[in-house]
Amino acid sequence: MKSSPWWKEATIYQIYPRSFFDSNGDGEGDLPGITSKLEYVKSLGVDAIWLSPFYTSPNKDGGYDVADPRDVDPRFGNLADAKEMIDVAHSLDLRVLVDVVPNHFSDQHVWFQEALKAARGSQERSRFHFYDANPDGTLPNNWISLFGGPSWTQVEDGQFYLHLFDSSQPDLNWENPEVAADFEKTLRFWLDLGVDGFRIDVAHGLVKEDVLKDHPDPQGLSDALRLDMPMDPEKRYALLPTVPFFDRQGVHEIYREWRKLFDSYGDRDVMAVAEAWVHPPVNSTRYVRPDELHQVFNFDLLDAPFSSIHLYDVISRSIDLMKSVAALPTWALSNHDSPRVATRMGEQESRALALFVLALPGSTYVYAGQELGLPDGVIPDESRQDPIYFRTGGQQKGRDGARVPLPWNGDTAPFGFTSGTPWLPMHDGWKDSTIEKQSAEPKSSLNLYRNALSLRAEHLVNNGKIQWLESPHHGAHSSSVLAYHRGSVSVYMNLENSPVEVEITGKVLIVSAGVPDGRDGKITIPPISTIWIQR
Ligand code: GLC
Ligand code: CA
Repeated sequence: MKSSPWWKEATIYQIYPRSFFDSNGDGEGDLPGITSKLEYVKSLGVDAIWLSPFYTSPNKDGGYDVADPRDVDPRFGNLADAKEMIDVAHSLDLRVLVDVVPNHFSDQHVWFQEALKAARGSQERSRFHFYDANPDGTLPNNWISLFGGPSWTQVEDGQFYLHLFDSSQPDLNWENPEVAADFEKTLRFWLDLGVDGFRIDVAHGLVKEDVLKDHPDPQGLSDALRLDMPMDPEKRYALLPTVPFFDRQGVHEIYREWRKLFDSYGDRDVMAVAEAWVHPPVNSTRYVRPDELHQVFNFDLLDAPFSSIHLYDVISRSIDLMKSVAALPTWALSNHDSPRVATRMGEQESRALALFVLALPGSTYVYAGQELGLPDGVIPDESRQDPIYFRTGGQQKGRDGARVPLPWNGDTAPFGFTSGTPWLPMHDGWKDSTIEKQSAEPKSSLNLYRNALSLRAEHLVNNGKIQWLESPHHGAHSSSVLAYHRGSVSVYMNLENSPVEVEITGKVLIVSAGVPDGRDGKITIPPISTIWIQR
């Protein structure tokens, strides 16, 4: 009998290559830098790494503007470095996922350069979405880019091309079969080099319908689609289902084809995870039907407040949704596009939530630096790089704060990340957060993650579903404590700033903060803390 595939309940560590470790002193992380630090990654107890793009790119959008999807950008090294990184990861029993960016190319991709030179109506232009202006000279529609400003840019002969993101990221036209063929080539290229799967960027965006239809509130919609934009949740969740350019049903045909390609690599369990934030949430289950992809990101914890009612709803709904297609949910508290969880919630809250989530069924994504409890970096405006900052004339600060390089060692910035000047400023304030310091401190965030991941592997993975205990909806009502059993472990999270006593006996396996006190069939959980108890 085939055992459960590796990705079912994996912990996947997201590396933003530019910010991980710089091997050559140019101030930017690179592939040899990642390879040299894979022992560290392994020591966390994770199962796999996912690397954000390192492909040839003018780097207008952190490499998500791909000019050649089948080569490595010189800033990150070369193809031999990629192969070496994959091989070393495998020798440490770490799987490797890479990003694939099928919604758009960079304007520096040879196809777009050809399209610019070609005539309207040409085969070259039909690989993208080129349209004429309206008879009154206005843009083909009123959509606002997710990075601010119009979704259209005009070229010399007067036509406009569609870009849902930066103007340097023209959207591809998936109705042109050349596009699908090219991406199959890219998937095979990386699989042949040895990767174990893909994270699919903007997976819900590929198929466009009604391109010429205006939206009643294009700016509101653009803001609603961005997790770094604060918005009244009611407004956000009313706008999200109205998006005309995401989650068209034709995308699923593409993933059915990709799945056949993945399954043709019989020597390994290839897996793919979709970045598909779709509404209503039930639509996300379509991406993980048995003949489509393996996982779909769950974005709900990336903007959830530290509130038991909210967290209960999000977690139980995510589990139930995926059950309907016999898939397991995924969990993420941080990524390269949203404010870091420690900044959003507070340090102790983020530790408590991490420990609560690490015991849940399904796969967990940990964004590099999250294990250190890093907050967002403080970035002066003149150092900002995110296109969001530029396209909104500085009104929106963008995502650079979550992309500051990792502090490795020493007492002063750049903390061993580089021997040169880091591409985003680092500050001496992080001196107690370095990997070196935290490794030596038993109660550090780093050791909390290490211990939790090792206990997770031992007691929780493949231990089935959870059973909620005290929650706003179950058992003895309490808005201060959220709790569940899974296997032989009980997980309690105290969300209040004062200790709480619960009736349970057993061995405390781990606690996120403070010292629990157990006697007479009761355990006192410290303020803002999660504990795992083995019954
Ligand atoms: C995804 C990426 C983000 C990028 C965008 C456009 O959302 O996570 O970083 O800017 O796609 O490619
Ligand atoms: Ca470098």
